[in-house]
Amino acid sequence: MTSSENRPHRSKARTTLTMLTSIFILSVGCDESLEALEQENNEELSVVSTLEAQESELRRRRDRRAPPRQPVVEDPIVEDPVVEDPVVEDPVVEDPVVEDPVVEDPVVEDPVVEDPVVEDPVVEDPVSYSDPRIQEVLDLPSSPHQYSIQGASDHFLNEAAIVDNTPIDNLDDDHRATLGRVLFYDPALSQNQTVSCSSCHQQERGFSDPQRLSEGFAEELTGRHSMSLINVRYYPSGAMFWDERALTLEHQVLGPIQDSVEMGLTLDELVAELQENDYYQPLFTLAFGDPQISSERVSLALSNFVRSIVSHDSPYDAGLSSNGGNPARPFTNFTPEENRGKQLFFAPVQNGGAGCAGCHLAPPRVGPGAPRPTSIFFVNGAANIGLTDGRGDTEDLGVGAVTGRPQDNGKFKAPSLRQVGLTAPYMHDGSLTTLRDVINHYSDGVQAHPNLDPRLRQGRGGAPQRLNLSEADKRALEAFLHTLTDESVSDDLRFSNPFRE
Ligand code: HEC
Ligand code: HEC
Repeated sequence: MTSSENRPHRSKARTTLTMLTSIFILSVGCDESLEALEQENNEELSVVSTLEAQESELRRRRDRRAPPRQPVVEDPIVEDPVVEDPVVEDPVVEDPVVEDPVVEDPVVEDPVVEDPVVEDPVVEDPVSYSDPRIQEVLDLPSSPHQYSIQGASDHFLNEAAIVDNTPIDNLDDDHRATLGRVLFYDPALSQNQTVSCSSCHQQERGFSDPQRLSEGFAEELTGRHSMSLINVRYYPSGAMFWDERALTLEHQVLGPIQDSVEMGLTLDELVAELQENDYYQPLFTLAFGDPQISSERVSLALSNFVRSIVSHDSPYDAGLSSNGGNPARPFTNFTPEENRGKQLFFAPVQNGGAGCAGCHLAPPRVGPGAPRPTSIFFVNGAANIGLTDGRGDTEDLGVGAVTGRPQDNGKFKAPSLRQVGLTAPYMHDGSLTTLRDVINHYSDGVQAHPNLDPRLRQGRGGAPQRLNLSEADKRALEAFLHTLTDESVSDDLRFSNPFRE
């Protein structure tokens, strides 16, 4: 419910009643992450102490009523920690809830409490990760890794929840993500068993490819540079690819498998291919309750895994947390150069800054009470940044080729700037080799494309901006961009190749 409900057009229609209903549903479902939060941060939660009492009551009952633990049966709402925060913590929503007696109804209503059967731990799933069919080939732990976000700061979680594109039918699930991880690293997904998703999306490279264009299964090159998969879930429209041609991640992940350059399989061939590998029967059972292999399930599992790849623990986050979430003040963990770079990144051009935040930290929602965006670093919608003047014969039209509208020509989606220090080369065509090249582009290389974004022009409809940054300022911006790298993502076991050799 998160992503769709939080999209602006729907949220407008939300009534107080539906909000309260949501809160009730969330209260029932949010126990696991709440517990984690409680341990970490008692003070935060004391604000909602009334709610909390109700929640814990609901939680106790839900636990008693819960069916025997079987991975697939699990209430999916439980798994999504992102959902819960904004609703509980959003000041706008929180107040009426505490005062409103309606919320208490469900608590009072249910007098049936005792059900000891559920506590019975004897119920055992016949399929497990210890299955020799799995263990022979894959190095997977006996209980799955936890793929939901661990230990992110409040400033991150609050913003993340607003822009999360996770659909209701594919909420975070450790078993699905585990299956997705195996699929991601499996060359069985390509026609001649040579290429996996990880060939072009490499963990230590922010899940991008150091090559300007990537080689597919038949050694042909892709038409564009591989995209970083970092924080793909934090893009509210959910549209994927540089030209946004895939409506959702669930649609997107089947694209490369069928692409004639990338992996070259039909979906029927894909299913047949996977059926030949013994380890998929137990893995599909663990993820979906039965061993049936289908392309829909491959799509769900792959996207579940890709969405779990989240970067939230960078030096930038440490700095933001240490000064109360205010990016405008210097961070104590930053060098003076990094602080200068931060200032340039945030300040608009007319105030002597470089204006980067105007796009890369665009407000996830507008309107009174909207939090100042500080941490997600995505561009909200495709934009034209004047990499070309639009007059070439072989121009990549980007979004324009998809929509057929001339005013979309040369517009592209931007990957998250998180881990950007690892994802060179840059841009849809991989044409900028280093971060310095990127900064030089924005400083004085922006070209006068007819669709050039107004934020990169001198005045409305004006000529391309010329920042003429000094050498020191360029170094500072570069240093700041490097503070957005969460080192832990590059060697996080959960995202690594699970195959034994
Ligand atoms: C041969 C290299 C190659 C392989 C293999 C490959 N990709 Fe990609 N991936 C790319 C390129 C290139 C793009 C950008 C293509 C475009 O925009 O036209 C891309 C884009 C994406 C995106 C879009 C990200 C965004 O922010 O919009 C996702 C997600 C993705 N790939 C996931 C996968 C998955 C999952 C697999 C395996 C099933 C996979 N890729 C296999 C090269 C590859
Ligand atoms: C008008 C909005 C806008 C502004 C302002 C802007 N950017 Fe971008 N940025 C984008 C878009 C859109 C892309 C992707 C463009 C493409 O590939 O064609 C991008 C790409 C990038 C990339 C490459 C990302 C990747 O993975 O390839 C970096 C790095 C970057 N911008 C940094 C900056 C910095 C630093 C500034 C300030 C000096 C800045 N941007 C200002 C919209 C903007």
